[in-house]
Amino acid sequence: MPELAGKVAIVTGAASGIGRAGARVFAREGATVVIADIDANAGERECRELGPSSAFELTDVRDTAQVQRMVTSTVARFGRIDVLFHNAMNVPLINREDRRATDLPESTWRAIIDLVLTGTFLCCKYVGRQMLAQGSGSIVLTATTDALIGQAGIDGYTAAKGGVVAMTRSLAAGLSPEGVRVNAVCPGFVETPHQAPFLGDPQERRKFEELHLMGVMQPEDIAEFATFLASDRAKRVTGGIFPVDSGYTAFKGLLSLKDSIAR
Ligand SMILES: NC(=O)c1ccc[n+]([C@@H]2O[C@H](COP(=O)([O-])OP(=O)(O)OC[C@H]3O[C@@H](n4cnc5c(N)ncnc54)[C@H](O)[C@@H]3O)[C@@H](O)[C@H]2O)c1
Repeated sequence: MPELAGKVAIVTGAASGIGRAGARVFAREGATVVIADIDANAGERECRELGPSSAFELTDVRDTAQVQRMVTSTVARFGRIDVLFHNAMNVPLINREDRRATDLPESTWRAIIDLVLTGTFLCCKYVGRQMLAQGSGSIVLTATTDALIGQAGIDGYTAAKGGVVAMTRSLAAGLSPEGVRVNAVCPGFVETPHQAPFLGDPQERRKFEELHLMGVMQPEDIAEFATFLASDRAKRVTGGIFPVDSGYTAFKGLLSLKDSIAR
């Protein structure tokens, strides 16, 4: 029996990268999938790929009215919402414009907080209300390892995703007694369209490979774990912050104790 048979899932940011992989794995596992994204062309294309048990909903997660519409039209069409997998992100904004706090323009800071933190809040608020009314649901938020350990030069992103991690715990505490689970996945470096160029230079790729003990992550690695969290197999898993990172946060250096003793 497929893991998500009969479930209705909204995947934000599903036109690309981790969200796209999530939508595909959810569909493979029997879910009806609503692709919610700001990119209409890519979102419609994904929807055609997934077939009739999917729908595209043009959604900017920063906008209350659009998030409300995403929820109401999903419920009107499919009757319920069992899963929210929230990925929406403007990766170029972070890669090009984020800085250490001392160099970060307030306008960039506000843009990052608006997308990452307010976008997450709005999706959780309006999807969460529907799930409370049903008495069940699973919210999976995509955070990052950068919210767990320091990362120089991206203080807007780390602060906003740190807020997502904190909200995961408090939201889980608030909603889970009424049947709604909330968890966060923290990916390491994932080879998505905007991140892949960092791996273009073989020396750079080697550096990333060294930091990720079992190789650089692929979007499907995160999608498979999100599928578990979305499924009833995880029925008592809530408030969890899960690094899915090829071992990236498991160690602080590549020094081998055995080698240093031998020396
Ligand atoms: N790729 C990585 O290395 C990595 C690592 C850790 C965490 N993450 C997190 O994973 C998530 C997905 O990242 P990705 O690399 O797959 O990104 P991506 O750029 O491949 O996909 C992001 C999607 O979000 C959509 N989007 C952008 N702004 C939006 C908005 N306002 N409303 C709705 N949709 C919007 C984009 O159109 C795009 O389809 C993000 O939350 C990111 O922070 C990524």
